[in-house]
Amino acid sequence: MTDHQQTVFITGATSGFGRATAERFAAAGWRVVATGRRTERLEALATRLRNDGADIHIATLDVRDSDAVQKVVADLPAAFANITCLVNNAGLALAPEPSQSVDLADWHTMIDTNITGLVNVTHALLPALIRTGKGASIVNLGSVAGQWPYPGGHVYGASKAFVEQFSYNLRCDLLGTGVRVTDVAPGLSQTEFTLVRTKGDQSASDRLYSGTDPLQPEDVAAQIFHVATLPEHVNINRMEIMATRQAWSPFAIDRD
Ligand SMILES: NC(=O)c1ccc[n+]([C@@H]2O[C@H](COP(=O)([O-])OP(=O)(O)OC[C@H]3O[C@@H](n4cnc5c(N)ncnc54)[C@H](OP(=O)(O)O)[C@@H]3O)[C@@H](O)[C@H]2O)c1
Repeated sequence: MTDHQQTVFITGATSGFGRATAERFAAAGWRVVATGRRTERLEALATRLRNDGADIHIATLDVRDSDAVQKVVADLPAAFANITCLVNNAGLALAPEPSQSVDLADWHTMIDTNITGLVNVTHALLPALIRTGKGASIVNLGSVAGQWPYPGGHVYGASKAFVEQFSYNLRCDLLGTGVRVTDVAPGLSQTEFTLVRTKGDQSASDRLYSGTDPLQPEDVAAQIFHVATLPEHVNINRMEIMATRQAWSPFAIDRD
């Protein structure tokens, strides 16, 4: 498969991994469908990428709204309707505090976005991906939090465990269609993730990333591009990516 004139559909392209992924695929000559809730950011991205010669279609989209998802897919211009790669990236963590202190609405928002939103978009695009067949791929953004528990991970980590298992189960159903599925699971990455998680606490975000070398959005975008452009007979099931300066801690033990 060649890079030229393939189309990638990206959710959450207004920031972080999603925006970097749009830039990475556009640089390789792919058509890009960039979606997210913040229209002005999508417009800025489109202007920038078009200036660099890219074909980009933008659509304001909240992935939690399944009717809106179906409409965005149905309204894709003909030149952008043959999807080769879906990057299910839109997602968020909220409520870094322990479960017993969490506002229930924050749990619902994570479930609605990271699980319901991801299945909404997947369901809407499966027919197009299956039409594309060999060489098509779905790249789902999981997280190390889906595999490794940590305090304050509660529903966020559980939602990413869903992403992992859903990815594997999709592979079973898509066997024979040619469509690949990959769970890309990054660790510490410097995006707006922590700003969102802390509801706008810039100093908390700065503290988390300072004095170390977290993954950058471009690092993850490069791996997403890599898995989507492998030979069509190759499927990476799960790719876990950590910064070299991140690892695990010992088990916590409650003592008298
Ligand atoms: N940064 C990390 O450490 C890390 C590690 C592992 C996995 N991840 C995962 O990577 C993905 C991208 O996160 P990021 O780090 O790039 O964070 P980010 O910079 O905050 O970007 C998140 C993106 O998701 C979009 N989004 C959030 N809610 C949405 C909704 N309801 N509908 C549509 N779009 C929505 C946001 O766009 P709008 O607000 O404009 O809608 C934004 O473009 C997420 O799934 C996250 O869980 C992040």
